[in-house]
This record gives sequence, structure tokens and C-alpha cells, in this order.
Amino acid sequence: MPQQTPDTDRNARATLRGDDWQRGSWRTRPRVQMPDYPDAQALAAVEAQLAEFPPLVFAGEARRLKAQLADVAQGRRFLLQGGDCAESFAEFSADNIRDTFKVMLQMAVVLTWGAQLPVVKVGRMAGQFAKPRSAATETMEGVELPSYRGDIINGFDFTAAARVPDPMRMLQAYTQAAASLNLLRAFSTGGYADIHRVQSWIADFTDGPEAARYRDIADRISDAMAFMQAAGVTAETAHELGTVEFYTSHEALLLEYEEALARIDSTTGLPVAGSGHMLWIGDRTRQVDGAHVEFCRGVQNPIGLKCGPSISTDDLKALIAKLNPQNEAGRLTLIARFGAGSVGDHLPRLIRAVQEEGANVVWSCDPMHGNTIKSASGYKTRPFDSVLREVREFFQVHAAEGTVPGGVHFEMTGRDVTECTGGVRAITDHDLSNRYHTACDPRLNASQSLELAFLVAEELRARRTGTPVQLRDPS
Ligand code: PEP
Ligand code: CO
Repeated sequence: MPQQTPDTDRNARATLRGDDWQRGSWRTRPRVQMPDYPDAQALAAVEAQLAEFPPLVFAGEARRLKAQLADVAQGRRFLLQGGDCAESFAEFSADNIRDTFKVMLQMAVVLTWGAQLPVVKVGRMAGQFAKPRSAATETMEGVELPSYRGDIINGFDFTAAARVPDPMRMLQAYTQAAASLNLLRAFSTGGYADIHRVQSWIADFTDGPEAARYRDIADRISDAMAFMQAAGVTAETAHELGTVEFYTSHEALLLEYEEALARIDSTTGLPVAGSGHMLWIGDRTRQVDGAHVEFCRGVQNPIGLKCGPSISTDDLKALIAKLNPQNEAGRLTLIARFGAGSVGDHLPRLIRAVQEEGANVVWSCDPMHGNTIKSASGYKTRPFDSVLREVREFFQVHAAEGTVPGGVHFEMTGRDVTECTGGVRAITDHDLSNRYHTACDPRLNASQSLELAFLVAEELRARRTGTPVQLRDPS
């Protein structure tokens, strides 16, 4: 019998998948939302350079995340995905990364309490640089320029020069992503993420008069911690209490960048994206025969698929068949984003389509992208109440269908910005101009993010026990 070399093995696997996928096969497919670089030579040089650079994440990590997402699909873990709408070069700092990481850890502890399940933490971080836009151009005071498409593509400044797509930006994005990941890895294991510290930050939040209504939950978490400590379970005796696993994700929009960082996993011989642990396909780039689906179907990472109101059940079925032909658990996360008041119009039909296919998916709720409005003062904003309402509708539909509401997906930051209205600190339209810093969509600030985690935890607990926590009256 001829001995099988790794190469023939790889080919055999490719044949098994019945495909002609290659790292660059997306190039022959229709593409949308991608820049036309004016300097092809400069682009090719950057791609060649990136292709030589080390990957930012490793295949084993992506496989581990996939296994954890398989648990999410079964209701054995809960998914928390969050971070900036668009990371920017200007806002890159250790403090920013730390603050977003810190608030995600607090949210995760609160959600762990609510769900009584481990929480899988995935940042929209270390790679979330490219943005789809609703219009190709922007007009200000009679001047029309190409739209800003994220710092990895062009500049935010409203000048003709800044808006030219520049491939060198990919190198800066790679460097920023590498430094961000380095810090995240250090925070995850270097003592910063000790659950006792995280719990004390939560207690600090509920000390304030506005957040007093969440104190019951914070007190219960503190009690559990004190009990464990008394019983001798500490970060010293139980490694898991002193460290966290934290994964990265971003929209796989700029395919030149994704292709250049794709690698072959030496363990399985299969291709894997090296730019982040999880990639997702945006609501505007999910054409079944388009470039983005083509690229994503061939890499082994967990893949997210944004599902907005316009997705048809036939499209969803075709996308599931393409993106997860082996029906592998943890491979595909459907991120529903319909808008408050509309979840009931769409989610049930999609859940049924998934059931008809017998497909194994994670259901997650993005309550941000269907709830963007223009405030009276002219800012793009999202009312906290609409965000909460969409999450609640998501839980209600899953309860009615008997399916698993696997997780939540937020645009958020650890900073004290004023971009979304509402929340216990009652940000009004009038406040938006104070600290409106986002490079793209409005984010929940630290307080709003944690508050939302409390409210989602309440939902999770109610679902689990049938007895909702009575939040203390704020007055
Ligand atoms: C995003 O997540 O920033 C985004 C653009 O989402 P969607 O594709 O769902 O509109
Ligand atoms: Co966004």
C-alpha cells in the first residue's frame, strides 16, 4: 500500500469536502464593500510581507474555541462577544485595551452567575479594523468623498488624501493587533483577571446610588466568593480562578489581509485564518456566491454569520450548507440582529429553517445593529432600552421555540463615552456631544455594558429557575 504523505492527505481531505477552495479562490467571486487599491504594486508588496509574518493566533486556539462554542450550542456554556465597532489607530492604548477587557470580565462574572454556566469570552478586538458602509461616498458641505472604511483601509479625516485606500495601513493594523493580543494574553494569565479582583470591581459599581438596584446580585456573587475563599478555593489553589481564556474576533471584510494571514494548521493539514480566533461575515457581505463566503468556508476557524431582516430562509439554508457542510459543532454562530420589535418577525422562521436542515448552530443576539437611530442632535445613537428589548425578545423566542439562546454580541467599550442613550446614569441626547469618540457605530460605555450584563443575567436566571430576581427599587 502506498504510504500517504501529508500532501496527499491534504488533497484527500479537500476532495472529501468536494471543493476547489484555495486561499485566493475568493478573488474570482463577486466582491462587495472592498476597496479598489490604486497602487497594485504597493498592495502586492504588502500582501507578500504579511504572508511572511507570523500568524497572530494559532490553530489549536481556534480549535479550542470551536469546541467551547459546541458547548454553547448545547446550552452548556454562554457566549459573550464584545468590543469596539471599529478599532482605530488613534485610540490605540494600553488603557483602552485594559478597560474593555476589564468590563468584559465583569460582565462575564455576572453572566456566569445568571446562567450558572461558564462564559466564553470573545473580544471584538485585535483585528476589528475594516468596516462595511451603507454608502460608497459621504458629502459634507457640498464636498463628496469616498466613505471612511476603517483604519485598515483609509483615513477618518474628511480629506481626499485620507480617503484613498492605502495598503500600508494593513501593516499598521497587523502591528496593532499583535501588540493588543500580547497585552490581552498578559492580562489573561498574569494575575489581573483573578476572579476576586473582578468581583470587587462589580461590588464597586453597585455601591453607587444609581446602580443600587443591582446590589442584590452583586451581594450574592460576593457571598459565593467569600464562601469559596473560606473553603480554601482561591487563585492559588484553583488555577482557573486566577486566569481567563480570552479569544479575539473581527469581521472578515478585507480579504487581502485575511488571505495573507491564512496558514496551514500543522496538526490537521487544513487552512486556518491567522488573523483572529473567530471571524464573522457581515450582514452586507453574506452573498452565497460572493467573495466573503468563499474565503470563510475554507478556513477552519469558528465562523459567525450576521443575520439581519433581509436574510431569506433559503439563503440561510444555502449559507449553512456552504459554511458548515460537515455540520461540525461549534463551527457556525448565527448572530441575529433584527432590531427591537422585529425579532418575532424573523427569528422563528430562521430557527425553523435551521431545524429543517438539522443544522448544529450557536444562536447569538446582536442587539446593536438593528437599533441605530439618529438623535435630535444629529448623532448616531442607540437607546439602551431598545438594546435591552431586543435581547429580551431573543430570549422569549428561544423559550417559545425550545431552542438555546447561546450568547450576546455587543458594541461596547470600557471607557466612559457618551454614545448610546439611557442606562442607570441616564445619558440623554443632550449629553451625546460630551464624549462621542467612536470611529463608527455608537458603543455602550462601561456602566451601560455592566448594567446590561446584570439585566441579561436576570433573564438567564429567570429562564433557569422560573423565579426572577426582584431587583431593588432604585428610589
Ligand atoms: C458590525 O458588527 O460592526 C456590523 C457592521 O454589523 P452588521 O454586518 O450586522 O451590520
Ligand atoms: Co458596528
